[in-house]
Amino acid sequence: MNASNIDKQAHWDHIFSDKPDESLGWYERDVSYTLDFFPPGLLDKPQTIFIVGAGTSQLVDGLLAMGYRLILNDISEAALARLRERIGEQKDIIWLAADLSHPLPNELPAVDIWIDRAVLHFLIDNQAIDNYFVNLYRLLKMNGYVLLAEFSESGAERCAGLPVRRYSLDDMNQRMLPDFALIKHAHYDYITPAGGQRPYLYALYQRS
Ligand SMILES: C[S@@+](CC[C@H](N)C(=O)[O-])C[C@H]1O[C@@H](n2cnc3c(N)ncnc32)[C@H](O)[C@@H]1O
Repeated sequence: MNASNIDKQAHWDHIFSDKPDESLGWYERDVSYTLDFFPPGLLDKPQTIFIVGAGTSQLVDGLLAMGYRLILNDISEAALARLRERIGEQKDIIWLAADLSHPLPNELPAVDIWIDRAVLHFLIDNQAIDNYFVNLYRLLKMNGYVLLAEFSESGAERCAGLPVRRYSLDDMNQRMLPDFALIKHAHYDYITPAGGQRPYLYALYQRS
């Protein structure tokens, strides 16, 4: 990793070493909004799912219980260590500590679903965002799905002490169309553990 990656990693490691899950501004005990965002039937068959910045999300537990193979990535080794402590070693998991704004390792398997909740919006530079999408194109199978859940235009300008790039549906569509079809989208007001309102834009796309 280069110096700026190490800084980013150190920033996130510090957060995950310092604070319990329940006090993180993005913590969700109940992940049903995200799970239910997938249309009925879409999650029915065995799939490989890439959770691109897993953090310590409870979504991981939900998807494991449903029998998926998971690639769990995060820039923060501390986040992954905490997640691993919670869920234990499991055969259907590939652990990865990579920065999504740089090329991901070649040996990763192709994935059916790419899930990003509150990760892409931390990439500010156009080059970093381009690199993220090169990774997406390389890893996602044809007809695979992408869920992007990012701060919306009316969302906060910062999170975790970092600036974020907020997304309108047009912004997302500009990135995704025409190689992906928009399946559905929604505005969702997530409420933080401290009671704050965090408007998100959720959008599900299918590669065509
Ligand atoms: C706001 S948290 C969301 C965590 C999780 N997706 C959730 O919904 O609970 C953002 C996560 O993205 C990770 N992250 C930030 N920048 C990243 C990058 N460039 N590459 C990979 N992970 C990154 C952070 O370490 C953190 O775990």
